[in-house]
Amino acid sequence: MKFLFPFLLLSGFATAQKTSHQFYTETYRPQIHFSPKQHWMNDPNGMVFYKGVYHLFFQYYPDSTVWGPMHWGHATSTDLVHWQQQPIALYPDSLGYIFSGSAVIDKTNTSGFGKNGKIPMVAIFTNHDPVGEKEGRNNYQNQSIAFSLDEGKTWVKYKGNPVLKNPGIKDFRDPKVHWYPASKKWIMALATLDRITFYSSKNLKSWTKGSEFGQQKGAHGGVWECPDIFPLKYNGKTIWVLIVSINPGGPNGGSATQYFTGTFNGKTFTPFDNDTKWIDYGPDDYAGVTWSNTGERKIFLGWMSNWQYATIVPTKKWRSAMTVPRDLGLEKIGGKYYVTSKPVKELNELNVSDIKLQNLKAHHFALTSKTGELSVPVRFKFSSDKIEDFSITLSNSNHEKLIVGYDKETNNYYIDRTSSGKTTFEKDFSARLTAKRLSHSTDMDMILIIDKASIEMFADKGLTNMTAIFFPTQPYSNILFDSNNFEIKELQFHKMKSIWEGKSK
Ligand code: FRU
Repeated sequence: MKFLFPFLLLSGFATAQKTSHQFYTETYRPQIHFSPKQHWMNDPNGMVFYKGVYHLFFQYYPDSTVWGPMHWGHATSTDLVHWQQQPIALYPDSLGYIFSGSAVIDKTNTSGFGKNGKIPMVAIFTNHDPVGEKEGRNNYQNQSIAFSLDEGKTWVKYKGNPVLKNPGIKDFRDPKVHWYPASKKWIMALATLDRITFYSSKNLKSWTKGSEFGQQKGAHGGVWECPDIFPLKYNGKTIWVLIVSINPGGPNGGSATQYFTGTFNGKTFTPFDNDTKWIDYGPDDYAGVTWSNTGERKIFLGWMSNWQYATIVPTKKWRSAMTVPRDLGLEKIGGKYYVTSKPVKELNELNVSDIKLQNLKAHHFALTSKTGELSVPVRFKFSSDKIEDFSITLSNSNHEKLIVGYDKETNNYYIDRTSSGKTTFEKDFSARLTAKRLSHSTDMDMILIIDKASIEMFADKGLTNMTAIFFPTQPYSNILFDSNNFEIKELQFHKMKSIWEGKSK
């Protein structure tokens, strides 16, 4: 059966977006994701919420669109949706580049950096010494701190840096610090080659080793990087989640982020099981961690790229964007805990033109744009009582297509970007990316967030997720939904407003 939506229903969704401004309108420029105005960006850093503002620092090289001497760029938002890029926060210094790390609000002034009642925001980061690296030494990554008394605008590096010296481990980086009330100490999770080492401190300046985790656990296809550890509640019970990025060795190649669930006593993390689980099974969600100082709510955001090709993707003025912020939760399946990720509800404020359809028996239907350009960004949400094959194809008149769907035989979700447009810049970019369906539920639901050059898939209430970037030579202009037996219980389309609308150059 072929079912075409009446055009009226469609018009709000599929008309090309008219932008009166010239800000952030370049080809492939994300419209609902943070990307820097120009130049190179990788990992999110120092994410902290303070006085109503979400701070997003990031690995930044302001002189080029490829990786180089790392700085911390800075962006702020009051709603997790609209971002304002701020002046660079941290510059390389005599101890080296400023690699990834975290930021905390030192409310009780344990560090002594606070003055005249001003609470310090403290950044904990890795100083990476490129000279030591070149000389082949094994202690060129050390942990340092800096503080700000004006909400992250200006920073003072601590004179006693580094605060945690390298004991001779080549990969010794990416400190993520949180306050552990039970022992009144700061806890640092640090990536140390093939494991996570936990340290503790009373004042952020002097650190004591607690324990190591993971040499024999989880995935080890690459070096461990960018850890995070935090509690989540499940039915009133506290479950600890340890996040670890690895590169390479991800489930679809290159960089990816795995996690463990277990207990933590301020010193030792003990996992409940030995399974390898991934926050996102797609290739383009890396180095993600959570915001600090958000109470029980844990909001995650990752870098929407992959070290396999991040430096050669076909964007000219800037390189890379972040994923949408995601709320983390827990689900229990077969006695095991899994982390769920869902796009934060704040994104709903971008929804315009709401199309809701129920009990759709149509098995093939198309959305075609009159203007030749789909009005991305869009959000697409549907649910079904049946677990059956389906595919959703985005395509353009150059025969380029991106397909997302579910294959019942293998029980896999997939995103197929083999013919999605420009793919030859890296040999493995053109791929059919898959993820096992984790849910045992007999119904299914999916949210898709599609921007100019990215798709984020959240299946089964955020249990199995995939993020992938793509680069069509002209914007996709059609969406085709295809299935044999699938029946949609409820379907919602939202065209989404650009977060840069109304901004001037
Ligand atoms: C992860 C990473 C970190 C490091 C940073 C350097 O993508 O390799 O381990 O601190 O990027 O930019």
